[in-house]
Amino acid sequence: MVPILEVKNLRTQYKTESGLVKAVDGVSYYINEQEIVGVVGESGCGKSVTQLSVMRLINSPGEIVGGEILFEGQNLLQFKANGPEMRRIRGAKISMVFQEPMTSLNPVLTIGQQLIEILEVHLGMSRKNARQRVIEMLDLVGIPGASSRIDDYPHNFSGGMRQRVMIAMALLCNPKLIIADEPTTALDVTTQAQLFELMKSMVERFKSSLVIVTHNLGIVARYAHRIYIMYAGRIVEEGSCKEIFRNPRHPYTIGLLKSVPRLDDQEGKRLVPIEGMPPDLIQMPSTCAFLPRCSYSIEQCRVEPWPELRKVEGTKHYVRCYLKTEAWEQCRSHSATT
Ligand SMILES: Nc1ncnc2c1ncn2[C@@H]1O[C@H](COP(=O)(O)OP(=O)(O)O)[C@@H](O)[C@H]1O
Ligand SMILES: [Mg+2]
Repeated sequence: MVPILEVKNLRTQYKTESGLVKAVDGVSYYINEQEIVGVVGESGCGKSVTQLSVMRLINSPGEIVGGEILFEGQNLLQFKANGPEMRRIRGAKISMVFQEPMTSLNPVLTIGQQLIEILEVHLGMSRKNARQRVIEMLDLVGIPGASSRIDDYPHNFSGGMRQRVMIAMALLCNPKLIIADEPTTALDVTTQAQLFELMKSMVERFKSSLVIVTHNLGIVARYAHRIYIMYAGRIVEEGSCKEIFRNPRHPYTIGLLKSVPRLDDQEGKRLVPIEGMPPDLIQMPSTCAFLPRCSYSIEQCRVEPWPELRKVEGTKHYVRCYLKTEAWEQCRSHSATT
């Protein structure tokens, strides 16, 4: 399989008054063609900054200070963030669906005005053809009465419908890669499920790849092929969706699995939050950043630097943890019974 995107050792930092925030600190990952990948972690662990770095949307005081972002074989870091190459890529090749559609939609323009312009600018379509294409796309994402609703303003749509408009917008130029950053977090569970079903069927239809960014590991279970777990600006575990759910290894991943609801949960299931807080990304220890919250740490965790992501023998699963198989098993069964 060919990776459409390959990020190598990405580092993005913010210079703030309280110090240097290492928001993304040596992150490597890839996404194959037509693959759906989940990026999961608690709030503040660097998920959005990673994706904004790929889009070259990091503004001062933030700065990408190292790494490579290979998209279709080209390193995007060689381009100016606002230069013509990146503008072309952002509009037509990689698109993003954000958590709050009102931040990406202009409230004083109709949906049609905004979406038609994208097709005129990026694909050079005539206004008439562009309008027709936008109506088709709105129809495809399940907006009833698309041919009249195209002339409505963003505030005329409900939250769920606005997110459908955003999905239509993201798909307009048939991009290779769609990045959905917590696209449904503000919505109710039923609407969330519908939107994920929609995104999945759309990327299959348009043969795009999809990155789903979420703090809810339960949500990606049904949709992602592969999952990356992020903690404190790094990736701590990577594996197929099946592996991560059946055999989670990092105590953080195991904690996440116990602490979030899944779309298919039985009512009344007890959720167990992970105790403690994620670390301050300014004062990062050299040891494992999860150590202060981990009940399974061993001497090695306290004295040695945080290990690199390592392959678990005999699997395609990677984890950044010193614990051995027996400890992971203990951690899983313990969490399951508490
Ligand atoms: N504009 C900014 N200025 C300073 N720090 C920032 C800025 N944007 C993000 N950060 C910091 O980067 C870290 C990662 O943030 P983010 O990627 O948004 O987390 P999340 O995983 O919730 O998406 C956080 O500690 C956040 O405070
Ligand atoms: Mg975020």
